[in-house]
Amino acid sequence: MSKNYHTSLLNGENSVSQAVSLLQKGECVALPTETVYGLAADASNIIAINKIFEAKGRPKNHPLIVHIPDVSHLENWAKAIPSTAYDLAKLFWPGPLSLLLKKADHVPDEVTGGLDTIALRVPAHPLFLEVLTQLNTGLAAPSANRYKQLSPTIAEQVMQGLDGRIAAVLEGGPCEHGLESTILDLVSQKPRILRAGPVTQQQLETAMGQSVDIPKNHTELVPGNVEAHYQPNTPLRIFSSEQLLAEMGELSQKNYHLIVWSDTVLEQCKKATSRVATWSNLKNDAALFGRELYVTLYQVDQTCPEQIIVEQPPQSDAWAAVNDRLTRAASR
Ligand code: TXA
Ligand code: MG
Repeated sequence: MSKNYHTSLLNGENSVSQAVSLLQKGECVALPTETVYGLAADASNIIAINKIFEAKGRPKNHPLIVHIPDVSHLENWAKAIPSTAYDLAKLFWPGPLSLLLKKADHVPDEVTGGLDTIALRVPAHPLFLEVLTQLNTGLAAPSANRYKQLSPTIAEQVMQGLDGRIAAVLEGGPCEHGLESTILDLVSQKPRILRAGPVTQQQLETAMGQSVDIPKNHTELVPGNVEAHYQPNTPLRIFSSEQLLAEMGELSQKNYHLIVWSDTVLEQCKKATSRVATWSNLKNDAALFGRELYVTLYQVDQTCPEQIIVEQPPQSDAWAAVNDRLTRAASR
């Protein structure tokens, strides 16, 4: 698609009503969520939905998540809804949990990539919620990036990828979580996590009083849930702290960017070599690390190092979403 739009950055007093009016006209508008920016369009308008695929360059069989104003809209989009869906909605909505349910018969195939299931969530960002409340319907919204690029967590990053390809971007500041929502499949026999996210396996198990699967090879289950979606342009490698220190000598010959979460390891790296190229010291806290991860990768990409080296985070439940995205980022 050629660049057809003059993309406005909406950030004034009337920004929400401007976004609403564009969405009502069947345009795509990038909106902030608490996870990442989403590229929103009216989920009941097939022409609008097709614009999402065109703007992103995304294959048509990749299903979209539909965002609803509150739980009372669930039945408009899904059928045969188990009671656990309502229990989880009470605990986690608005918030970063997408529930996979049987789709209602009238939902267009364009939204679900032809599948008979639909992913639904109520987002927590106040601006997105305000837009949804005014429209009083569902908005399909994948992450607001071009196909295969990193999900944007600041408006500037949305603009860099989609300027000229969509009607507008609603400025909503940096995203709180910085990683995409957890996707929980409630259609399969046993609940299972299709994509790790800010709501963790343990939180879900506690809430549901039953075990929740997190399949290792879940990527193939979902068209569009593939490795290449979460990769920076620069090759990325993950090193344990020990490996990192062992490699420092060799690394000093190269133009790399180091991402660490441990102050001690950073100090040791600096001692072990005459030259640590550039580094980002993210926090030793899964939520804070997650918030900074994509924006750091985006900014590092602009400086074009030969590679990005990341200190491997702990392997605990809290870090599952971070580890999932890092593993995908490193898999090429
Ligand atoms: O946090 C998020 O979920 C963000 C914000 C904008 O809400 N959205 C997001 O959308 O990450 P997207 O399209 O980039 O990723 C959605 C994932 C895809 O991997 C897609 O395959 C999966 O959800 N998905 C959506 N509907 C599905 C369905 N019916 N069955 C299986 N997977 C589905
Ligand atoms: Mg995406």
